[in-house]
Parts: sequence; structure tokens; C-alpha cells
Amino acid sequence: MKVILVLSALLVVAFAAPKAKEVKVTVFYASLCPGSIKYLVEQAIPGFKKLQNIKLDLVPFGRTIVYNIYIYIHSQSVNRKFVCHGEDECKGNRYHSQSVNRKFLCHGEDECKGNRYHGCVLDLNPIDKATSYIACDLAADNPSDDKTLQKAKEVKVTVFYKSLCPGSIKYLVEQAIPGFKKLSQNIKLDLVPFGRTVVFRISGTRKFYCVHGRDECKGNRYHGCVLDLNPIDKATSYIACDLAADNPSDDKTLQKCANETDISWTNLKKCVEGEKGDEIMAKYNERAYNVTNPPTTFFNDVYNKDLSEEPRASFVTTVCSFLDNEPAACKK
Ligand SMILES: *[C@@H]1O[C@H](CO)[C@@H](O)[C@H](O)[C@H]1NC(C)=O
Ligand SMILES: *[C@@H]1O[C@H](CO)[C@@H](O)[C@H](O)[C@H]1NC(C)=O
Repeated sequence: MKVILVLSALLVVAFAAPKAKEVKVTVFYASLCPGSIKYLVEQAIPGFKKLQNIKLDLVPFGRTIVYNIYIYIHSQSVNRKFVCHGEDECKGNRYHSQSVNRKFLCHGEDECKGNRYHGCVLDLNPIDKATSYIACDLAADNPSDDKTLQKAKEVKVTVFYKSLCPGSIKYLVEQAIPGFKKLSQNIKLDLVPFGRTVVFRISGTRKFYCVHGRDECKGNRYHGCVLDLNPIDKATSYIACDLAADNPSDDKTLQKCANETDISWTNLKKCVEGEKGDEIMAKYNERAYNVTNPPTTFFNDVYNKDLSEEPRASFVTTVCSFLDNEPAACKK
């Protein structure tokens, strides 16, 4: 058995001809390399989605050792003679033709696996679809996990909003919630009824200040408790009912929507008025640290200014651009 090492160089190549309509961008990356992941998820793929002018060529393969494992069968065992440029060439040819296996060495077996999945996705699908798959996979906690690799059918969507902010209300009532209802099989929806806010701590108790007044804090708190106490499909029905009303933070509205969506008003009030409500708001406050101007949308935990604005006009279209196997709701 003989082992040959082939090193391939890590390259990032971009040819940018001035004034050209299209630029070919080739990116070599390794599927478990943190630098590669950050670059693709935050820059290269969202950038590609934004521009119509890129011929993107992704190569999920980094500097790697390739073991070529050959099985040599003694020429003596078969009674044939070959004419070569010397005996060594014959021997070399024989090694090559009888190569039966190749093993690639990466940052662990899992990286080789991830690279291989990405390579096949790129081979089997158009580039827009393949990049959606790759972004979904790389943004996950464990990109080379079987579950993650299968799960390009789902995109995580986080929406920060404020319960009395007209922009938030319009976005949730007209786009985000109906869009979620259409594509609920493909969206992991994470609603955060909270904008960056001032928190006063007065003798141990937290006081939250909201941009649209005390009623907004109240509305956020009801939504936060509804989200905490109920499955997301029920919670979104409640929130849509509340936000579509003339006065979302009015007690009557808050209770009417609970009645309509089969949510326990008693449990909801208990959460809102108790320590639980405070805890939920405090957690939101930490999460909302960088979110200065809701509504703000994150895809797969990544913030991109354009991709945050886009779904306000068409939530379904934006979400579909992240999905691998287009569900029926995307095809209309
Ligand atoms: C909600 O339902 C309860 C119990 O059926 C009823 O007493 C209450 O008036 C209803 N509230 C609203 C606002 O519809
Ligand atoms: C806020 O943004 C900074 C800079 O990008 C980042 O380091 C930090 O983790 C973010 N904080 C939260 C709570 O997301």
C-alpha cells in the first residue's frame, strides 16, 4: 500500500473587471471552518442574493490531504506483458488504474461530510437554491449534523416588534403573520415583542420604559406571556387578532382576542401581572440590545439590513429565497 499526499491551496479568487455587467466570484471554503462560515453566512451568500450580477462558483473544499489508496496486484499473478516507457511507467499506470479508494482528511470527518453535502447540493441544484441550502446549513449550530443537513426545508425567522408601533403592526398583520401561517411547516418563528428600551431598576423592581408609552409596555407584556404560554400557531393568532384591533392594548381587546383564540385569560393575566412577566421582559431586554428600530427581522440568527427590510413588502418571497425544496406556497 502506498500513500500519496496532494495538497491543494486555499484560494479566494474574484475577478472584478471594471464596468462589466457580471463578475465571476469563486469562493473556496471549508464547511466547519468558523471563518468560512462567518464569511458565507454574513457576507457572500446574502451579497449574492442581493446582486443579479454574480456568477457564483462555490467550492466547499479547503486545504486538504488526499490519501490515494491503491491496491497493487503483482504482474506476475496475471500472465500479460505491457509495453511502457520503462518498467516504472507501467508500474505507475497500474497503480493509477487500480486505485480503488480515496480518503479525504479535513478538520475532522464531519467537515469532509459537510463539504461533500455542499458539493452535491451545488452539483444537483441551480446556484440560487444551492446557496439557500448552504446558508441554512452553515448558520446552524451543528452544520454537519444529519438533522441540519436535511433541514434546509426550514428557516428560522426572528422578528423584533413593538405592540403599538404602526410599522410593526402593519408588518405583522399584513405580512409576517399571514406569511407564517402559509409557510408554517418551513418557518421556525421567533417573535420578540420588545424594542431597545430603557430599564429602570427601582429598589429591586424593574421598570420598563416604552417608546409608545405605558400602553405599549403593557401590550408587549401580554404578547410576551402569550408567546411563552402557548404554541406558536395559537400565539400568532392571538397577536394578529390583537394588533388588528383599533386599540390593541385595551383590556377589552386583550380579553376578546383570548376568547376568540381559545387562550386562557386567567393564566395570561397571572403571567402578565406576576414575576413571570418581568422575567420574560428582562430576557427580551438582553436580546434586544442591538435592535434600535423595530420591526427588525433576522434570518437564521443573522442580521442583514436589506434582508430585514425586504419582508416588510413581501414576507413570503423573502422566506422562500431561504428554502431549499420550494414548498407549494412559494410557487404561486
Ligand atoms: C370572554 O369570555 C368570557 C367567558 O365566556 C366572558 O365573560 C367575557 O365577557 C368575554 N370577554 C370578551 C371581551 O369578549
Ligand atoms: C450586539 O452587537 C455587537 C457587535 O456586533 C455584538 O458583539 C453583541 O454580541 C451584540 N449583542 C447582542 C445581545 O446581540
